[in-house]
Amino acid sequence: MTADKRVALITGGSRGIGLGIARRLAEQGYSLTITARNSETLDAAAAQLREDGAEAVATVAADLAKEGAAEAILKEHARTFDVLDILILNAGVGTAGQIADFPIHRFGKTLDVNLRAPFEILQQAIPFLRDSAARNPDNGAKVVALSSMTGIYAEAGLAVYGAAKAAMISLVETLNAEENQHGIAATAIAPGYVETDMSAWATDTIPAEIMIDVKDIVELVDGVLRLSARAVVPRIVVARSKSPYQA
Ligand SMILES: NC(=O)c1ccc[n+]([C@@H]2O[C@H](COP(=O)([O-])OP(=O)(O)OC[C@H]3O[C@@H](n4cnc5c(N)ncnc54)[C@H](OP(=O)(O)O)[C@@H]3O)[C@@H](O)[C@H]2O)c1
Repeated sequence: MTADKRVALITGGSRGIGLGIARRLAEQGYSLTITARNSETLDAAAAQLREDGAEAVATVAADLAKEGAAEAILKEHARTFDVLDILILNAGVGTAGQIADFPIHRFGKTLDVNLRAPFEILQQAIPFLRDSAARNPDNGAKVVALSSMTGIYAEAGLAVYGAAKAAMISLVETLNAEENQHGIAATAIAPGYVETDMSAWATDTIPAEIMIDVKDIVELVDGVLRLSARAVVPRIVVARSKSPYQA
């Protein structure tokens, strides 16, 4: 891998927001590692990304709810590319349930996928990101984490998911406090409902056509990734427009 070729790792890069971000980076010639559980969906996404312009695409099928997933992902990424310039912590699972009767067996999995695994991936990626920033001091290395509007404003019925997403915002802030000095800048993106598979359950009350478009999140991520190492945007909150022309 030559020094001028940029490499990104995107968890949950096979569908939805993650695939949208991966496609934008592929169009810019990035090499990519994408991860998800379903290997068929991953393979289809990888073929699309190569068509879009990605120089190389590695896939890792791993369930973030399981121990060892982070290690397997970083190991495969390092085996294929050796460098990492951009880390997108995107994979997540939505879990609904009121606090009063939330089944506690779902608590662990929600936290594992939405917080523990991203933390472990981040931890193991830091040495690569520091190296990247040292090689590319003008732009530095970037981390983008998908949080959620529920991590900022409470939504009844999303207590555990919201708590995990609030934690991601905090994690990003601390990462900036610790790693800006090493050239790593991190951003948490906190959107309202985005039109993907994950939000399909909500379309009875919020029609898909008034949800945020994946392309809008992609634009914001693209902008953040282009920033120089002099700037850091700790969080971006993306609300659904109340435009009367929408519905
Ligand atoms: N859509 C929204 O309304 C919305 C709003 C705010 C924030 N977000 C956040 O944005 C991120 C992306 O959401 P999305 O809407 O694009 O979701 P999505 O369409 O459901 O896609 C989720 C991606 O993550 C992977 N994934 C899910 N569970 C996984 C697990 N246990 N282990 C490994 N990979 C897993 C999926 O692939 P496999 O199923 O093959 O594993 C898929 O690639 C999430 O963190 C979500 O919480 C979404």
